[in-house]
Amino acid sequence: MADQPTSQPPKKLYIETVGCQMNVLDSELVVARLRDDGYELTQDIDQADAILYNTCSVRQHAEDKVYSALGRIKHLKRKKPDLAVGVLGCMAQKDQNLILRRAPHVDVVVGPGQLGRVPELLAKAKADAAPQLAVSLARNAGSRSHVTSSFDSYDADREPAVRPSPFQAYLRVMMGCDKFCTYCIVPSVRGPEQSRPPAEILAEARLLALQGVKEITLIGQTVNSYKHKAPDGRITRLSDLLAGLHDIDGVERIKFITSFPNDMTDDLLQAVRDLPKVSRYIHVPAQSGCDLVLKRMKRMYTASFYEDMLARLRETIPGASVSSDFIVGFCGETDESFEKTVGLVERSRFKNSFIFKYSPRTGTKADDLYPDDVPEEVKRHRNHVLLDLQMRISLEDNQAFVGREETVLVEGPSRTTTRKEGWDGPDQLTGRTHCDRIVVFSGPESLTGQFARVKIQTASAVTLFGRLAAVPDAGAACPG
Ligand code: SAH
Ligand code: SF4
Ligand code: F3S
Repeated sequence: MADQPTSQPPKKLYIETVGCQMNVLDSELVVARLRDDGYELTQDIDQADAILYNTCSVRQHAEDKVYSALGRIKHLKRKKPDLAVGVLGCMAQKDQNLILRRAPHVDVVVGPGQLGRVPELLAKAKADAAPQLAVSLARNAGSRSHVTSSFDSYDADREPAVRPSPFQAYLRVMMGCDKFCTYCIVPSVRGPEQSRPPAEILAEARLLALQGVKEITLIGQTVNSYKHKAPDGRITRLSDLLAGLHDIDGVERIKFITSFPNDMTDDLLQAVRDLPKVSRYIHVPAQSGCDLVLKRMKRMYTASFYEDMLARLRETIPGASVSSDFIVGFCGETDESFEKTVGLVERSRFKNSFIFKYSPRTGTKADDLYPDDVPEEVKRHRNHVLLDLQMRISLEDNQAFVGREETVLVEGPSRTTTRKEGWDGPDQLTGRTHCDRIVVFSGPESLTGQFARVKIQTASAVTLFGRLAAVPDAGAACPG
């Protein structure tokens, strides 16, 4: 905390984050800036002097959740007129003044490109007794709304208290997205694709390592499209970045999400194979297994291209885990198209899949061009079918781990409902294998942040359960 004058107790900040890892990281940076402004975090919303929601617009459901949360805190604002309420992030950029109309008790609405200004805007809202709106401008007036800038994540003063854990941190390598898949709001709210200079990324990684971070997850909407061209013409690709990060002492594991199928180049696959600190795990969403649907989505690949990419990936990186995202019930998805997606999931044997029902987004091309013609109950049914299939595959593949000894990076006490999954060992810790599978096992909490060897005894579709076999020496060769 920044030093406080004795007469002023620290102000309390309550923050809730929805959406993807970009938002998790943005929240960390906002908290760091507010900490310097005299705020400290609270988990108790009733105690808060400022309540912030960092929001997501990717599906209607995510937005509805925020509007209902805003409704629920109205009474707090009546009780405590000095309470500051803020809506940050993607929904702020998308809905702008609409938020102030629907929830007049909101004081600040701040888009993802303006988050560095949150402390100043909170102060101004109070001084002027008027709500403040700060969003990025459209790139081309008159064209589809597309913002010009994104929050620059490099900030020497990051905030460990709101990280996934003290030794795990996100690191942004790219901002925005230029792919404009027809269903997706992200490019409109996050702005154009920009790759950060490698020197900045490496400096931030070194700083994180000094703060005790052992696992760094590089994030970008299409992280494997990362390409930075220096003024002297030198190109840095994601594979080069991985090699640079690999040399940083203290960094033990590196991951990157999310990959775009078309940009899965051989140099990247070879880097994952050859650099032992890089997790053998790739999240590369397919979205659909039907070419007609993929074309309407403007994903720019066919199902067979995707499957060939997957075959190349698995051939290059033995033991790799792959996960995917799917949208079911996209405009024009027939039973036949859906069966093609089922076929692709059957063959691909993903570690896991995130399955979403199509949610039309105002301002996207799909919403302009195609009717949302798959009934809700059909979407729900397809969601269940695909999820059941994926769970069966995940279970089968996880069972193949039983009897094996795996190296696990320990994340801390297990928060999963492991007992329900048929495991009743004491003192459970959780961690992940080199290929990102969750492992729950018994052991002392002091193992947190270290590698441990765990003998797998049983498995569910989402978790491997085992017992501690050994703790490798510090600095031992990286996990296989
Ligand atoms: N940049 C990442 C994903 C960003 S959004 C990528 O390209 O893969 C995360 C996931 O949300 C997407 O992969 C997609 O499956 C889903 N999604 C995006 N827009 C959606 C919409 N309008 N309705 C339902 N799901 C959507
Ligand atoms: Fe959205 Fe497509 Fe960009 Fe991913 S690649 S963020 S799905 S537009
Ligand atoms: Fe949502 Fe914004 Fe991420 S729309 S998925 S929080 S980039």
